Amino acid sequence: MAAKKESALTVPVYRLPYGASDIAFVQRHVARVLKRGYLTDGGEYVAAFEAEFAAWLGRGQALAVNSATTALELILKAIDVRGHSVLVPTYTFYATPLAVANAGGQVLFADIDRATLALSLASLKKQVRPDTKAVVLVHVAGVITPAVTAIRSWCHSRGLILIEDAACAHGATLRGRRAGTLGDIAAFSFHHSKVLTTGEGGMVVTRRREWLESTRVRRAIGVDRRRNNWEVLVPDGNNYKMHEITAVLGLLHVRRADRILAERRRLARYYDTHINFNDHVQPFAVPKGTKSAYYKYLLRVKEPALKEVIRTQLRDHYKVMLPPNVYDHLCHDQAVTAQLPVLNAHAAFPESEYMRDHHVCLPMYNGLTSEERKHVVTSLNHVIARL
Ligand SMILES: Cc1ncc(COP(=O)(O)O)c(C=O)c1O
Repeated sequence: MAAKKESALTVPVYRLPYGASDIAFVQRHVARVLKRGYLTDGGEYVAAFEAEFAAWLGRGQALAVNSATTALELILKAIDVRGHSVLVPTYTFYATPLAVANAGGQVLFADIDRATLALSLASLKKQVRPDTKAVVLVHVAGVITPAVTAIRSWCHSRGLILIEDAACAHGATLRGRRAGTLGDIAAFSFHHSKVLTTGEGGMVVTRRREWLESTRVRRAIGVDRRRNNWEVLVPDGNNYKMHEITAVLGLLHVRRADRILAERRRLARYYDTHINFNDHVQPFAVPKGTKSAYYKYLLRVKEPALKEVIRTQLRDHYKVMLPPNVYDHLCHDQAVTAQLPVLNAHAAFPESEYMRDHHVCLPMYNGLTSEERKHVVTSLNHVIARL
């Protein structure tokens, strides 16, 4: 069959849909920040964003920072991983292992389960070492693994701390409990591509008071402002604080969070029901008992070559731009690994390699119009029919 006539419609990789009421909210609250004349260091919007985000999660207290990478670093400093190894997936963005190195720990990679995209207990058991202190469980693409309960029990039976990298999983649930409330401490991202965003930003969430308090000090260069504003109390702090205007954007999204998630889930259902799946292209099945945050919508492809075929045909014939996949590159494979304290870069991670080679991500963002989503599906169905 010949390629469809070139489309007039372009579906971009990403676009943030701030509507008139969102812009009015931001204008009103930014004006209030400016009238107060107070932009950082204990401002009311950062405090409100933290409180409302924690309340929305339903468990724990939250501290706002400037990214998920720094949130992870602060968490790993709070639990003090110096002289210890930390288990992380190789199937993640490099921010996860980099945070371990930045906190003075050693990276131990582990493999995933292709059904959940998350660390598998079998691989954790295989890779763990006597000096291991923590596990960083990444909720890849907004999916929570149902094995989190077994992973948590195993961690606690060995005295390991379970950290959730929930950078991409705002609002994902496992049997009704939200990502960020399933382990001992969690990190979120508010980077502009994320489900909830402030452009750049992050959050640490935990119920452990001592970790919260030491994080509060470290994010402010080591100063505890409740004591005084000059004395640096720890040697490994940095400036990881969030700005008041950033927090206004955060407050907007935390108040819109349920609507944002509902729209993403509607789009996922549309894809699930309108794509002509066949032997070559299958949906990624979200595990039972969980609700994805749909940071990404994944297709499973039968052959690695199909990844590029689908991406280029959608771009060249239909002007449908696909977003980055999760993930095209494994961490242990990257050149920078040789310069970092990584203990097992040469281990085998077959499930991670399999997923790297057998998936493609479709456009998944709020504000995709019904015309655009229809164009994505009809274009993809044309491509699938010719495979
Ligand atoms: C799993 C994971 N962890 C951490 C990060 C880092 O987030 P940030 O850009 O907020 O530092 C990302 C970013 O995409 C991510 O995908």
